[in-house]
Amino acid sequence: MEVIVVKNYEEMSRKAASVIEEKVNAEPDCVLGLATGGTPLGTYEQLIEGHRSRGIDYSGVTTFNLDEYVGLPRDHSQSYHTFMQEQLFSHIPFLNTYIPNGEAEDLDKECREYEALLDKEGPANIQLLGIGSNGHIGFNEPGASFEAGTHVEKLDQVTREANARFFPSLESVPTEAVTMGIASILKSEEILLLASGANKQEAIRRLLKGEMDEMFPASALYNHKHVTLIVDEEAYGKDV
Ligand code: F6R
Repeated sequence: MEVIVVKNYEEMSRKAASVIEEKVNAEPDCVLGLATGGTPLGTYEQLIEGHRSRGIDYSGVTTFNLDEYVGLPRDHSQSYHTFMQEQLFSHIPFLNTYIPNGEAEDLDKECREYEALLDKEGPANIQLLGIGSNGHIGFNEPGASFEAGTHVEKLDQVTREANARFFPSLESVPTEAVTMGIASILKSEEILLLASGANKQEAIRRLLKGEMDEMFPASALYNHKHVTLIVDEEAYGKDV
């Protein structure tokens, strides 16, 4: 795992965006794996800026999102469909954008089909990831199998509490999500893991110990040959 320590959130976002832009310029029909949450917001802002001011072209690019809440209508203000529409897709035209359908009647079928689509159109050339304070990646919570493909995952209490900031109450945070599994994530050619802020310090410290443990999902990334962690000083816990 290559570790790049940067000053702050903005530098992290710029660095991540520049890696993505370089890939899109070199391979205009590439596949990007995308995340939601607070971490990638600055990266998406940079991508939008690069598209507007430098004409970076995404019209041949396909995207796959990691996850979606189960049971939230697609047009709910906190669904990941809405998040992606607001933060990226309404600003940059892509060839295809895929997000799991958390409203599917048959969720197991939805998971199988999403994984098959990823196999057909993918793998992602670059997969963008954030990390939960409990070490989750996508919504693979502690204990999730490292062998799993796309599946329905029960959300940890810690995750629901962290995401309650976006909902009117803790009770209204969904209890399950459809998520790419760790095996789906590891299919990507290259993985960019981003972490910013003091609340990620403990997770980053544990990750960098380098011990693989299914109770700490991000440690599965040690099974991949091309992972870059871009981490800011607060999350890294030391001065650069
Ligand atoms: C989001 C996702 C999650 C987040 C993680 C960190 O699609 O899969 O793993 O990356 O929960 O969330 P933030 O960035 O809000 O701290």
